[in-house]
Amino acid sequence: TWTTEAFVDETIREIRAKVRDKRVLLALSGGVDSSTLAFLLHQAIGDNLTCMFIDQGFMRKGEPERLMDIFDKQFHIPVEYVNARDRFLKQLEGVIDPEKKRRLIGHEFIQVFEEESKRLGPFDYLAQGTLYPDVIESADTNIDPKTGERVAVKIKSHHNVGGLPKDLRFKLVEPLRKLFKDEVRKVGRSIGLPEEIVRRHPFPGPGLAIRIIGEVTSERLNILRDADFVVRDEIGKQGMYHDFWQAFAVLLPIRSVGVMGDQRTYAHPIVLRLISSEDGMTADWSKVPYDLLETISNRIVNEVKGVNRVVYDITSKPPGTIEWE
Ligand code: XMP
Repeated sequence: TWTTEAFVDETIREIRAKVRDKRVLLALSGGVDSSTLAFLLHQAIGDNLTCMFIDQGFMRKGEPERLMDIFDKQFHIPVEYVNARDRFLKQLEGVIDPEKKRRLIGHEFIQVFEEESKRLGPFDYLAQGTLYPDVIESADTNIDPKTGERVAVKIKSHHNVGGLPKDLRFKLVEPLRKLFKDEVRKVGRSIGLPEEIVRRHPFPGPGLAIRIIGEVTSERLNILRDADFVVRDEIGKQGMYHDFWQAFAVLLPIRSVGVMGDQRTYAHPIVLRLISSEDGMTADWSKVPYDLLETISNRIVNEVKGVNRVVYDITSKPPGTIEWE
């Protein structure tokens, strides 16, 4: 029978046997897969692991700081923080089309990844949080005909685009490749990953950029980040975080009229998206108490400058998608 403890022991042994004294690079996102991977590898090979976190500028309020705090300070797993915020914003100037946004973000990610891995390298291996469903589905890897090893062609990052350049085709370490998501959570928990990461809601790789409909600017990022914070803060306070598959805000590019005190306002609406789902493939909008909707709406309009209206998305998936882009 499969036990988490046996898996961890055996995997650490396997990693050591494979990697020996070679260097491994890992792109950390703060999600449960890459975080579990970082903990496993750190236990297995210590300093020969380099974790890199590329901050695209599309994370939620406080998240990059929190990630550095948990890894660097709390668990003494050093993380190379790469501030690429300006570069990503520049790429997205004037871009409205959702697919183009994703593509540009994916390409820029690979660009930064390449530069930074050269700066920090050389590395022999790339650690990837590939899970069993990814192995079955994807053609992201080639098999080296000589050694039979899987070789990275693309980097698995939530970004589905962007091939790795030829001179960056690392050998792969993929210790999670036989696991399903719930098993990864168990493994993460058993090697000490904090619950806040183990049970975190899914978050798309392009982050808040695909929750800003229309052009992504730093001003609009700030508006969405503040609104999103209120959503998280309020459901947290009410002890409801784990009632949802995802809970977030979307910023619309239109404006509508409102009134605040004795002033007329003309500002943006926020869409509230509260989702129940088992696996993200199908999903329902959550039938939450009106009181919760009311509190969130009042708080957003009062606390977030630039927003004067909150609407609730009552579309399930299908026919809607969870994200708006
Ligand atoms: P949709 O919007 O297609 O989303 O119903 C289904 C689930 O996938 C997440 N999602 C992404 N995750 N990179 C990711 O890692 C992405 O580009 C991406 N787009 C959507 C979404 O948050 C939901 O959980």
